[in-house]
Amino acid sequence: MVTAIFPAAGSSVRMGGGVNKNLLALAGEPILIRTLKTFSRVERVNFLIVVVASHEVETVERLLSSTEGLKPWRVTVGGSERQYSIANGLKLLPDDAEIILVHDAARPLISARTINDVIDAAEAFGGAIAAVPSKDTIKIVDAEGFVKQTPPRRDLVSVQTPQGFKREILLQAYAQAQAEKFLGTDDASLVERLGAKVKVVKSGYDNIKITTPEDLSVAETFLLKR
Ligand code: CTP
Ligand code: MG
Repeated sequence: MVTAIFPAAGSSVRMGGGVNKNLLALAGEPILIRTLKTFSRVERVNFLIVVVASHEVETVERLLSSTEGLKPWRVTVGGSERQYSIANGLKLLPDDAEIILVHDAARPLISARTINDVIDAAEAFGGAIAAVPSKDTIKIVDAEGFVKQTPPRRDLVSVQTPQGFKREILLQAYAQAQAEKFLGTDDASLVERLGAKVKVVKSGYDNIKITTPEDLSVAETFLLKR
């Protein structure tokens, strides 16, 4: 069975406005609810763990309680970094969770198809991440702002979520990161440190992370095309 963890405990600094961006309405429905509804449509997903700031736990519990069609869920408190928020969510894993998905609550346009593809690849290879080929040329630069190197674009992908892993692999990766005080920018980077395999699964360019106010308009445009 599959448990999905949704980090939603950030401070939304780039969005501004002083509220949790995941609770903002996108085409009339809170971003977090859109995300949870899509995961709830995937049959193999049977439990949702939502991680929010401590002062939001009650509000979010009320919101989820009044939403129909969600798989069983729990809300818990996050930490000062995304990685710490997910580490807290992992404490609530049910015993039957064989595959764990981590998905940014702020990616409400995720498709059921990509979720299924990531689950399949995580089952087959132990770890899997949603990604798209990089549209931009990416350069490695030095501290003085000079270009050091240009990796070939065909070798580069832009990484998204969901990222899915077999339970033992993700728990071991988080334990080791904590022991070594390693802070990664995604979950796969913790797993890569174990030397474990991570398969790249082709996602869509529409699976954007709502980060700045413009992203709300972009996301609404994508929704209109569906
Ligand atoms: N997140 C989290 N706990 C943190 C930081 C981030 O659960 N300590 C969550 C966010 O709520 C978001 C996802 O991780 O759903 C991706 O992070 P990001 O888009 O960076 O959101 P924020 O950190 O809230 O935004 P900003 O960096 O602009 O403050
Ligand atoms: Mg952030």
